[in-house]
Amino acid sequence: MKNIGLHLISFLLLCMVTSDSNSQTQVSPQLTGPDFHSYANVADVRVKHIDLDWQVLFAQKVLKGTAILTVERVSRNTRAPLILDTKNLNVEKVETSVNGRTYRPGKFTLATEDKILGSALTILLPVGATRVRIHYATRPNASGVQWLDPSQTSGKKTPFMFTQSQAIHARSWIPLQDTPSVRVTYNARVRTAPNLLAVMSAANDPNTPRDGDYSFAMSQPIPSYLIALAVGDLSFKPLSQRTGVYAEPSVVDRAAQEFSDTEKMVQATERLYGPYRWERYDMLVLPPSFPFGGMENPRLTFLTPTIIAGDKSLVSLVAHELAHSWSGNLVTNATWRDFWLNEGFTVYLERRIQEAVYGKPRANMEAALGLRDLQDELGRLEDRDEILHVDLKGRDPDDGFTDVPYEKGALFLLHLEQTFGRERFDQFLRSYFDHFAFKSITTEEFLSYLKANLLDKHPDLAAKVPIDEWINNAGTPASAPKPSSPAFAQVELLAQRWQRGEVPVAQIPVTAWSTQEWLHFLKSLPEKLDQKKMAELDQAFKLTQSGNSEIAFQWLMMSLQNAYEPAFQRVEDFLSTIGRRKFIKPLYEELAKSPEGRAFAMKIYRRARPTYHPIAVATIDEVLKWNG
Ligand code: BES
Ligand code: ZN
Repeated sequence: MKNIGLHLISFLLLCMVTSDSNSQTQVSPQLTGPDFHSYANVADVRVKHIDLDWQVLFAQKVLKGTAILTVERVSRNTRAPLILDTKNLNVEKVETSVNGRTYRPGKFTLATEDKILGSALTILLPVGATRVRIHYATRPNASGVQWLDPSQTSGKKTPFMFTQSQAIHARSWIPLQDTPSVRVTYNARVRTAPNLLAVMSAANDPNTPRDGDYSFAMSQPIPSYLIALAVGDLSFKPLSQRTGVYAEPSVVDRAAQEFSDTEKMVQATERLYGPYRWERYDMLVLPPSFPFGGMENPRLTFLTPTIIAGDKSLVSLVAHELAHSWSGNLVTNATWRDFWLNEGFTVYLERRIQEAVYGKPRANMEAALGLRDLQDELGRLEDRDEILHVDLKGRDPDDGFTDVPYEKGALFLLHLEQTFGRERFDQFLRSYFDHFAFKSITTEEFLSYLKANLLDKHPDLAAKVPIDEWINNAGTPASAPKPSSPAFAQVELLAQRWQRGEVPVAQIPVTAWSTQEWLHFLKSLPEKLDQKKMAELDQAFKLTQSGNSEIAFQWLMMSLQNAYEPAFQRVEDFLSTIGRRKFIKPLYEELAKSPEGRAFAMKIYRRARPTYHPIAVATIDEVLKWNG
């Protein structure tokens, strides 16, 4: 019933515009929920398949072409229009088709832009319409696309572009129902310069001829946030029959070396949670401006080059993105408030994969680092943001990107594992992935499955896990597990003793340390260290010059906290070449704490800003209160 008013408004608005005109209206449709981040009227009409056809116009930084949406009415409301999400798109023309072959001019309205959600595109669907064809172009500042000049690539000769759709940026390059509760299959044709290769989150043939005209098919239904495209001078190197890596030619060998355990990881995950269902698992290493560590685009994980450390020490990120092939891509969060179903499960799986491939000590270290990050984060967050089933109504879903869905989510699953025992819990998870395969689910649906398939079968054990507290309260329950690592206890002791002057640097047994032990060592030192102590560490261990991005980042943070000047140049270089938000946000935040620091930050940012991804720009603009 509540939709009638909405449809009446849409209908009246549509009557006011003539065919194929692009008219702005003042009214955005109401958000009918349950997804507060999409205007799509999914209870009436659902998009099932998308055919895409683009030209990649590097000179203009524009993708231009058509999207044909195959739609299905799912309610009796035959008047309901099709409401899509768009953000910053130039919609040129809309056509509709009944038979799927011939198209007639269609009527549409584009609502005024909401800063977070973009503009609803309302299209009148004639009786019996099955397809809608939208002729459109993106704008150079599309939030989900980064266009790189040749100078921002490793080869320096050709431009590069890539998309990042999660959470709600698919709408900035494709008009669609941009909610993870809807799944679509897609085909795409991409035309670009013949010296460039296009790849997508779909079937990619590693041997495709390089001719500038590429076709893709994703035959398994996926949510919109997993649609992805990248175009650049890419080479491919196989790692196994079904895994491989794409990267710029000068990076691909190092990447293949670093990720050579990928097939082992896939097999370990299959043993735990059932077959890998996406055929190939390839990875694409992006230029360093990629704003995330990784993105689990199906069949083609996108990765930051900053995890190529030379010693495989940061490949838990590959385990993480691979794990999403089960938790996230197969069983998907239905809305962004259920994000912890994607990330908490994935961090839990990631650690299980690490354990299977690299052993328990390594997995324990990573869990202990995770717990520490969570505790630090909980110290900073407001209560409302500490809740797994977080309320994001009216907010940018990117605000939900904290350690809470990741580490608190994983800790909750670890609590279940430890309470019910590995065997039972593994079996439960395996059946969960099968049961909800290719579906999008809410937290409530997970909870009722959990109750029926685990809790109710063992009420005595269930009584030990405060489920409601885990899901709906801030903080962590008193009974939460506390992952720890014996190796870390040693490292902590040394950190204390060195700091008190009881052990000289030369006697710290660093040669045997893993990256994780290094990180724990640095994090175990007090926030304030004097110049002498900083210099002592730096001279002994060359930390300012560390080639490991995680260690360098941790050291640079300490250097800013302690005004350790010899590291300032490296801070500038780091911020000028890397755009990974996890690193640059805390560094800019730290700089912004003092007037001199802030001035230094502004100087760096002025030059670096044009090289950052729009998502990182939005974040850092806010940190520095940037206004031009
Ligand atoms: N799916 C996320 C990345 C993401 C989440 C992008 C939300 C946009 C919105 C990806 O799987 C991820 O979690 N990446 C992490 C790495 C991970 C090891 C914690 C990252 O990029 O830091
Ligand atoms: Zn993830």
